[in-house]
Amino acid sequence: MSKRIAIITPGGDAPGVNACIRVLVRKGIAQGFEMLGVYHGYQGLINGEISRLHHNSVSGIIHRGGTILKSTRSQEITTHTGLRRAVAGLRKHAIDYLVVIGGDGSFRAGLKIAQAGIPIIGIPASIDNDVFGTDETIGFDTAINTAVEAIDKIRDTATSFDRIFLVEVMGREHGFLAQAVGLASGADFTILPEKPYNLRRICAELIKDKAGTKTSEIIVVAEGTGSIMDMARKIEVQTKVPVRVSVLGYIQRGGTPSARSRILASLFANYAIDLIRHNIRNRVIVLRKCSVQNIPLERVVHGKKKLSDLTKNLSL
Ligand code: F6P
Repeated sequence: MSKRIAIITPGGDAPGVNACIRVLVRKGIAQGFEMLGVYHGYQGLINGEISRLHHNSVSGIIHRGGTILKSTRSQEITTHTGLRRAVAGLRKHAIDYLVVIGGDGSFRAGLKIAQAGIPIIGIPASIDNDVFGTDETIGFDTAINTAVEAIDKIRDTATSFDRIFLVEVMGREHGFLAQAVGLASGADFTILPEKPYNLRRICAELIKDKAGTKTSEIIVVAEGTGSIMDMARKIEVQTKVPVRVSVLGYIQRGGTPSARSRILASLFANYAIDLIRHNIRNRVIVLRKCSVQNIPLERVVHGKKKLSDLTKNLSL
């Protein structure tokens, strides 16, 4: 039976989201579904920004970062009136399913919409990789590569000047991105919100390095750890080595998606349409041990993803 399926991309964009929209639209149309896009996230949904998507609407987007459907961070969707208006908008357009491509906040609002009777399928997309139940989110791999490329460049100047560099990596209150970036860039230290750290001990190591042959250092700091400027000042005072700070910021969220992010996005989208075809509702698609699966939306919203220590058995 034909269904009307709307796609929405609220919250922080992530590279690979367009690749996901592309497969949703094309496979959805191939199944005989009518595909629609909600523009500007939940705020656009509240304001009625919904229109049809065709095969050609998603041409030439697989390699583009960001989201062609645009995004906003809507406060109104968290209110009773906002939610009521959003659900009324979906009903007015006779939407049978809403596919939410996003992270925690997007799924929280999605669960409210599901509880109001509109079936939801969630697809995890966030550079932070902090969504419960999935090993990986769309965009995570690209963001790691972007940050590592930046750190490789920073390393050149750190070495030339014999400086200590603190590099701040995004991730909100989590260290999933920073941990992966630290590992891939060969950082000397990686400071994460989930792990207590001792600045005195780190400084003692830095001083020891300086006394030996090692003259520059790269320290990756997750944004959720606290003020990187304070940390830099303290390290400079204790080590007496010049310290510089580089906040990578929004470059981590943009750019051409890596092949891995595109593949993950395409597999998630393909599976989403299969779930809808089988009338399965209110689930989130996840990657677990290299296999694409689905788990209840409610579990994802109430679950808390824990950081596992990737470096535990790594002695360098
Ligand atoms: O969730 C992705 C993310 O980029 C976080 O890493 C960061 O803390 C946050 O979004 C920034 O949000 P905003 O787009 O509202 O500035």
